[in-house]
Amino acid sequence: MESCGIGLIACLLAYFSSPSAGYPNGKVQEVCSSMVPLHGSSSQLFPKHIIEVNVTQFRSGDHVKVSLSGPAFEGFFLQARSANNLRGPAIGSFVLADGRKSQLLTCGRVKNSAVSHTSKSKKTHIDAYWIAPRDAPETVQFLVTVVEKFRIYWVKIPGPVISQPKMTTKSIPTSPPISNLTKPFNASDCGNTKFCVRNPSDCDPKVKDCFFLAFKQDDSMMLVEMSGPAEGYIAFALSHDQWMGGGDDAYFCISDDHNVDMNTASLSGRSYPAFDSQNALEEMSWRLADGLIQCSFQRKIHLSAFQGRFNLDADYYIFLADGEVSEDGAIRKHHRQPLMTNRKYNVTGSPEDIGGSRSPFLIKAHGALMFVAWMTTVNIGVIVARFFKPVWSHSLLFGEEIWFQVHRMLMMATVLLTSVSFVLPFVYRGGWSQQASFHPYLGCTVMALALIQPLMAAFRPPPQAPRRQIFNWLHWSTGTTARILAVVTMFMGIDLQALNLPNPWDIYTMIGFVAWHVGLDVLLEIHGYCLIRKVEVLEDDRIQILQSLTSAEAKGHTFKKTVLIIYICGNIAFLVTFLVRIGQV
Ligand code: HEM
Ligand code: HEM
Ligand SMILES: *[C@@H]1O[C@H](CO)[C@@H](O)[C@H](O)[C@H]1NC(C)=O
Ligand SMILES: *[C@@H]1O[C@H](CO)[C@@H](O)[C@H](O)[C@H]1NC(C)=O
Ligand SMILES: *[C@@H]1O[C@H](CO)[C@@H](O)[C@H](O)[C@H]1NC(C)=O
Ligand SMILES: *[C@@H]1O[C@H](CO)[C@@H](O)[C@H](O)[C@H]1NC(C)=O
Repeated sequence: MESCGIGLIACLLAYFSSPSAGYPNGKVQEVCSSMVPLHGSSSQLFPKHIIEVNVTQFRSGDHVKVSLSGPAFEGFFLQARSANNLRGPAIGSFVLADGRKSQLLTCGRVKNSAVSHTSKSKKTHIDAYWIAPRDAPETVQFLVTVVEKFRIYWVKIPGPVISQPKMTTKSIPTSPPISNLTKPFNASDCGNTKFCVRNPSDCDPKVKDCFFLAFKQDDSMMLVEMSGPAEGYIAFALSHDQWMGGGDDAYFCISDDHNVDMNTASLSGRSYPAFDSQNALEEMSWRLADGLIQCSFQRKIHLSAFQGRFNLDADYYIFLADGEVSEDGAIRKHHRQPLMTNRKYNVTGSPEDIGGSRSPFLIKAHGALMFVAWMTTVNIGVIVARFFKPVWSHSLLFGEEIWFQVHRMLMMATVLLTSVSFVLPFVYRGGWSQQASFHPYLGCTVMALALIQPLMAAFRPPPQAPRRQIFNWLHWSTGTTARILAVVTMFMGIDLQALNLPNPWDIYTMIGFVAWHVGLDVLLEIHGYCLIRKVEVLEDDRIQILQSLTSAEAKGHTFKKTVLIIYICGNIAFLVTFLVRIGQV
């Protein structure tokens, strides 16, 4: 129950918290491109702080000393950008002079491409070293945002411009050649000479919107082909476990203004990858057409020289992710759940042709248990309480009437299943989910109502007490609200990214289920009404009342039992269909 508590607290926090501004610890990646502190006032006009550098010209690989000084300030944020494109991405990387006063941040795709404060203590001088990258533009300008006090700050104070000497000699290493792919890839060799991961499993890389990854061994080299939707980037990663992070070895094809960049990175957590400054990839070529990014490259199967790259002749989980790229060239988090192979594979072993799953186990378990609870146990429990009191009124089970025992048991099962399965998405996300629209809010409400029900029932007044009517009413209305909300929650749950059941099959089947449930509910309701009418008619005719009543009742009971059995069978059929589909996602 403790983890349930965490879930509920997370719900409450999400309801009431608002994003807070200000970053005394200097972790300000959010403002990488704007460089504007989120302090709610506007930038001051005349800067008092200056940037100085010890050179006017630079070559790739040079260290340039950058100094920021001026009246005492609390925070700062320093970057280098192309002097011709001051709105563009940060360029090059920094090395710290004093790790206590300053820290390195990653903006865009380049590791350590910005420097910021570590605390709001007052300082008057900061040094850092800028390292010129291989692909630097001709002129580079330093920019700094300085925060004197919370509301007093200057944004993008321009610093000195430094430039590369006009290149005459070929001493500067050129970036590796990138050529165009002439043809789309071929899936015909998958499982024969190529190891393929495809999503969906019949993905033909000529077709839009499907994912294709192939490994083809050639002596000590591995030829890799990757193809996928061209909204921004596609990537695959090799991992020792089923979690993103822990140093996973990732390979990116990033579309960048009619160009494709290929990079390697390591995923150290569920956060922005650490891109490598050196590329372990060779023979890169790409194609950007028909709504697809296609890229291919080679790498050595054994790479000891490059830290963070895995050797390819071992067993790994393989991930496939795709997402958008922001204006400054930084990749965004995958929008849909990445694909993950169901077990580890050795891509240098025998060629296979495999698929994977786009839903994590914890989320699958969440959906499945919620279906069991809110499709089956709760509904049968309610029908038994509403229509079967008179049917089993004389038989006892463990000292209580049967209908009551069945009702209580099924409802406790519902609450238990809900509580367990409620915690799972929180465990998986490690917090509140931003991307599930109203589903989590409705879900929290259902959980709260489901917990209130047994509490109220435990403190119910005795049957003849006048307050019993109030309890009955509250018990009915809370339960009904919970069930209606639960159905809405399930409707919203079946199309979430983390467990996307096939469309539109899922909606139609849910509608089918609701129709089935309501239909049989109404049938029992009408039947109950007719039975009462019949009894009244009999009474009018003054026939021997007691006798006739029981025979009418007996018929009615058989009818009800038949309907209940039919209902349970249909209900379980729907449930099993959904569980099977969840297993297949
Ligand atoms: C900006 C880059 C990225 C960010 C911020 C990010 C963030 C996250 C987060 C927060 C999760 C946890 C589930 C969720 O809340 O959605 C996750 C899951 C996952 N990510 Fe990423 N991700 C990024 C890039 C990538 C890349 C490039 C790959 C692989 C090529 C990848 C593979 C995965 C996989 C397989 C999962 C599911 C397993 C798990 O939950 O750990 N991610 N990611
Ligand atoms: C009435 C039943 C249900 C309740 C009370 C419920 C409750 C919740 C709650 C509170 C969350 C939020 C967790 C978080 O923010 O980290 C959640 C997430 C989720 N639920 Fe449900 N749920 C129910 C049914 C379902 C069903 C039937 C499915 C799918 C078949 C489903 C799929 C999901 C998914 C995929 C997430 C993760 C969303 C995301 O973070 O991307 N849920 N649910
Ligand atoms: C500028 O500073 C860097 C780092 O200290 C140093 O490596 C470089 O030689 C200096 N350049 C000049 C021209 O002084
Ligand atoms: C790739 O092909 C496109 C046209 O499809 C062309 O515009 C571009 O210049 C080519 N790039 C290279 C590097 O060959
Ligand atoms: C591509 O696939 C076709 C069959 O669909 C096959 O005949 C052809 O040889 C393949 N081409 C390559 C380069 O593998
Ligand atoms: C992977 O396959 C290669 C080639 O068959 C083999 O040499 C290597 O030992 C395999 N690795 C594992 C971990 O099985």
